[in-house]
Amino acid sequence: MKILVATEKPFAPIAIKLIREVTDAAGHQLVLLENYKDVSELLAAVADADAMIVRSDLVTAQVLDAAKKLKIVVRAGAGYDNLDLPACTAHKVIAMNTPGQNSNAVAELAFEMMLYQARNGFAGKSGSELRGKTLGLQAFGNVGKYMAEIAKGFGMDVFAFDPFVSDEIIEKAGVKVCKSVDELYSKCQYVSLHMPANDKTKKSIGYDLLKKMPKDAVLVNTARKEVIDEEGLLKIFEERKDIKYLSDVEPDSKAVFEEKYKGRFIFTAKKMGAQTEEANINAGVAAARQIVDYFKTGNEKFRLNK
Ligand code: 3PG
Repeated sequence: MKILVATEKPFAPIAIKLIREVTDAAGHQLVLLENYKDVSELLAAVADADAMIVRSDLVTAQVLDAAKKLKIVVRAGAGYDNLDLPACTAHKVIAMNTPGQNSNAVAELAFEMMLYQARNGFAGKSGSELRGKTLGLQAFGNVGKYMAEIAKGFGMDVFAFDPFVSDEIIEKAGVKVCKSVDELYSKCQYVSLHMPANDKTKKSIGYDLLKKMPKDAVLVNTARKEVIDEEGLLKIFEERKDIKYLSDVEPDSKAVFEEKYKGRFIFTAKKMGAQTEEANINAGVAAARQIVDYFKTGNEKFRLNK
């Protein structure tokens, strides 16, 4: 079988080497389309692929139309808002993700941004410490759990709100349960977002929630920029000079932040949460193994479309 790795943002070379070991051992052919600049390159490369590994690359009906032999696509990562699942089903393509494989890298990036901001970008001026501060985790999935673990090392007071996770699981991790999202924002100086981008969560974080946050509030977003209502965020930024926003990717209104709110934000130019060798290896190799296993045994454990 021909397995295509199509990544606009490439994996680390060591991850490709290890992915290749998995596919070679199973007798499959690995083809790389890394760093591509235009969707036309993806449409051409996928034409004769039996399987495909992607990252945040968009797998649309157009891509699936071009993929005449495709049987399975695996998103090497957690969030699958880039996969058109109904279109995958219509094209009889199995879609999977690799949950948990890059979560520690994302949690570490959240802390890296928090620490850098707390020390005012290492520019010499007195900053603040994380010890004793409140941290609210909006969603307590794989990244949330790593966040709690790291936060405890820093001596932070950790809270979580997740309507899909039992109180028992949250409390077992040494985290206090918030019964509502309002409670989380009212209690926590730092709030870190770890929910998926879907119809329910898109634009769900805006003025009404952010205005509840205590003094020197910091919103940390390593989830998706789409969950933020940027109009509401700009409104609270204008009203409260103490609030800060740290985001793994630039918001659409980046130019306004640069013009008016210098020193109160950090934006990565390209999504960096999962950009570590370890995360690339974990997610890439897991994706390759899931494909090999699917072809060998029909295992559909991580299937997203039913
Ligand atoms: C994920 O959902 O797994 C992360 O956001 C990582 O995305 P990336 O593979 O595009 O870096």
